[in-house]
Amino acid sequence: MLFSGTSNEPLARKIAAELDHKLGRVFIKHFSDGETYVNVQEAVDNQKIYFIQSGSFPTNENLMELLIMLHALKKSNLHPKKVIAIVPFYPYRRMEKTVELGESLTFELVADLLKTAGIDKIICMDLHKHRSKRFFKFQRRELFALPVIVEYLKKKDLTNMVIVAPDKGSMPESKKYSRALNIPIVKAYKKRNKHDEAIIKKIVGEINNKDVIIIDDEINTAGTLVSVVKAIKEKGCRDIYFACTHAVLSGPAIERLKTCPIKEVIVTDTIDLPIEKRLDKIKVLSVAKIFAEAIRNDR
Ligand code: R5P
Repeated sequence: MLFSGTSNEPLARKIAAELDHKLGRVFIKHFSDGETYVNVQEAVDNQKIYFIQSGSFPTNENLMELLIMLHALKKSNLHPKKVIAIVPFYPYRRMEKTVELGESLTFELVADLLKTAGIDKIICMDLHKHRSKRFFKFQRRELFALPVIVEYLKKKDLTNMVIVAPDKGSMPESKKYSRALNIPIVKAYKKRNKHDEAIIKKIVGEINNKDVIIIDDEINTAGTLVSVVKAIKEKGCRDIYFACTHAVLSGPAIERLKTCPIKEVIVTDTIDLPIEKRLDKIKVLSVAKIFAEAIRNDR
């Protein structure tokens, strides 16, 4: 049985359609003080349950909804066989390591909360670092948006194209794209002096007169993108494309994208984009088929 939370109903409906399934009835509301109330309105005895909920903005709200739904399914007397959370965008993913004394490892905290709420398995997509999966003390599967992005990019003229990896962390994923598209990689070195600020220190590789695809896992404030674009423009590149899985697009991102000399920003629907963030230059690809396939083959 499939259920959807409120964070990304369009994706949940597409996954359900791919599987030729209906979404189960669940009543979700807020009390007047803001607390979340969930009531599962289906018999789920001995069924495998898939609950689809992204941890996107408003993060705390959507995370609590995920936890309360898992809790309602597992800790009331509904007796499902197994509860699997489909979390296309995992919340609090950036803090999968601490840098300074006194910080919280929020990736692990969220994983522990999911465990407490009753999760049996998580299926998520493109975590910030693959090794962070070790924090899940339950079954887990990480999916990748690469096949849908590659399929789309293959329709472009790739003869003069190079990939730019914006930082060390994006290198492994950029290499996979480079192999899949059969185009070379150029490396950028990013530095962050403070949170949400990105500075490109240098670019290593030939990009003069080349078209460029920048590959990353997410676009948040668009600081990384804007500074990479500035650095590669100065080195004489031609058309610039950007592709990533998660369109977080917080704070100044949309205003930055409007003025950034970039031809196209390719993202997926792991996060449901509100209407005011749907710029003409943003192309949204659906990952519903990838999730549907994972559910179909889930053992
Ligand atoms: C950082 O390590 C990530 O891979 C992304 O590059 C980063 O989250 C993008 O954030 P922003 O758009 O705020 O620069």
